[in-house]
Amino acid sequence: MFVRRRGGLVTEPGDLVLVTGANGFVGSHLVEALLARGHRVRCMVRTTSDLAFIRHLPVEWAYCDLCDGEGVRAAVRGVGAVCHCAALTRALDEETFLRVNVRGAEVLARACLEANPRLRRFLFVSSVAAAGPSDGPSDTVDELRPPRPVSWYGKSKLAAEQALQTMAGGGDGRLPLTIVRPARDSPAANRSACCRPYVVACRVPTMAMASASSGLSSPCTNSTAGGLWIS
Ligand SMILES: NC(=O)c1ccc[n+]([C@@H]2O[C@H](COP(=O)([O-])OP(=O)(O)OC[C@H]3O[C@@H](n4cnc5c(N)ncnc54)[C@H](OP(=O)(O)O)[C@@H]3O)[C@@H](O)[C@H]2O)c1
Repeated sequence: MFVRRRGGLVTEPGDLVLVTGANGFVGSHLVEALLARGHRVRCMVRTTSDLAFIRHLPVEWAYCDLCDGEGVRAAVRGVGAVCHCAALTRALDEETFLRVNVRGAEVLARACLEANPRLRRFLFVSSVAAAGPSDGPSDTVDELRPPRPVSWYGKSKLAAEQALQTMAGGGDGRLPLTIVRPARDSPAANRSACCRPYVVACRVPTMAMASASSGLSSPCTNSTAGGLWIS
């Protein structure tokens, strides 16, 4: 495992952590990982969300859509860290990706700056899709390779990273930003496989995660959740 960290773990057991997209595939595993490590968790979900994976868990609930500024402000109040997993991974057009993945991330980050100036960590779950594909064995996709996303989804994740980095670097509040870029994960992935996080570009701590075997795809979700936790 190769992990380079610049930020360090800033939450302690007992700290309250907000997980957006908490009922989703990655989010629900992350909630379990956080609870297992002694954190308290507030799950941000929608009234329409399927809560099958997390309904039974001892968590707080915040019901709102990412684009609902007032609801999002209430959701971030009093938490020590935010793990932003909510996103669209599929949509019929680019504008829908941009509305949820970019503007939704901005709404959340702005809410943190306004309603929770003492926030210690804002973890943005991006994707290797933001980096774009490798052109071949000699084209290593790492922090030195300029991003070249090819899909609407990847472009929206990169645009969200850039918007958040601007807010993190701005003089008006300093978002305590970490960006991770997990590789493809799915319920069919081998849960006993291990994943290899690696760091990619930027001023703020940024990390991508890929499988140990191929270096490119299909880590197991428990390892992804563990990787998100250490970031
Ligand atoms: N799975 C992977 O292989 C993979 C790889 C790399 C990166 N990621 C990233 O990991 C994160 C989670 O992905 P996933 O695979 O777990 O996806 P998922 O299962 O589809 O979960 C997406 C979550 O986002 C929520 N969401 C979508 N639109 C929203 C909105 N407007 N307001 C509030 N919540 C909204 C969904 O809520 P509802 O249930 O209410 O729709 C759901 O909880 C994403 O940021 C994705 O880019 C995933």
